[in-house]
Amino acid sequence: MQDRGYAAGPIPSVEAAMPTPMTEDMVRLAALADIHYSKSTPSSIQPLFAQIAESADVLVLCGDLTDYGLADEARILAKDLAQVKIPIVAVLGNHDFEANQEREITQILGDVGVHTLDGDTWEFRGVGFAGVRGFCGGFGRGALAAWGEKIIKEFVHEAVQEALKLEAALARLSGPQRIVLMHYAPIRDTVDGESLEIYPFLGSSRLEDPLSRFEVTAVFHGHAHKGKPEGRTQTGIPVYNVSYPVLKANYTDRPPFRLFEVHPTTQGEPGVTPLGERRWARRATDQGPAA
Ligand SMILES: [Fe+2]
Ligand SMILES: [Fe+2]
Repeated sequence: MQDRGYAAGPIPSVEAAMPTPMTEDMVRLAALADIHYSKSTPSSIQPLFAQIAESADVLVLCGDLTDYGLADEARILAKDLAQVKIPIVAVLGNHDFEANQEREITQILGDVGVHTLDGDTWEFRGVGFAGVRGFCGGFGRGALAAWGEKIIKEFVHEAVQEALKLEAALARLSGPQRIVLMHYAPIRDTVDGESLEIYPFLGSSRLEDPLSRFEVTAVFHGHAHKGKPEGRTQTGIPVYNVSYPVLKANYTDRPPFRLFEVHPTTQGEPGVTPLGERRWARRATDQGPAA
């Protein structure tokens, strides 16, 4: 899950996504994952945060915020995020655990206002957020079962625990719009494009059950760098893979983040509307071919 895609050229030079007039009944949400900050993160990624802050009311970061899970990497990221004057909600990813410094990373990011969720909830202008890291184990009939050796049972137990944490968090959200962020994928659809051999390490169907039970509005995740940007749970809940390399590869005409409108008080479908496609497409047409 390397291949961070930073080297694929500069971020498209665009104005922000035509900021929609802010209303009390609409929250603009920007989502992104797998920024893998390190000492060698190119400066070309920094303007991205400025574009996000101009376009959105809240930023959702879905893990692998650092590359080797080092507190020093988190400090570099925190310096950039400190310039983002909108609220930020995040979960950590597997890379953020590599050096056993995840608590320090959470603290460093918390010091610049990032709400890092680990079975927790957070609310912003009536929209509820629940976040977990998630875990792997595979999907559908191929999901690993808790059977046989103790270590296999422990591996499966980790995914079950993450699903239970998510369920408990969702039970605490009362509003009509419940947004879930996680690092691992809860469905197979959004990892399609990766090598079949690594599917079991990209997510777990066990994470899907709480999403359906609580009829969440939308799910954002990362981790599958070569996956597909959109899918749906078996019950039709939209799932977005917002991994930085996925966005770079699939949306070459716009900055690599997804933008959505969420209507906090709207009951029923759709609670979340992707903004990017229509707006970016119209701007591209308006401005003629890119140079
Ligand atoms: Fe990643
Ligand atoms: Fe990851």
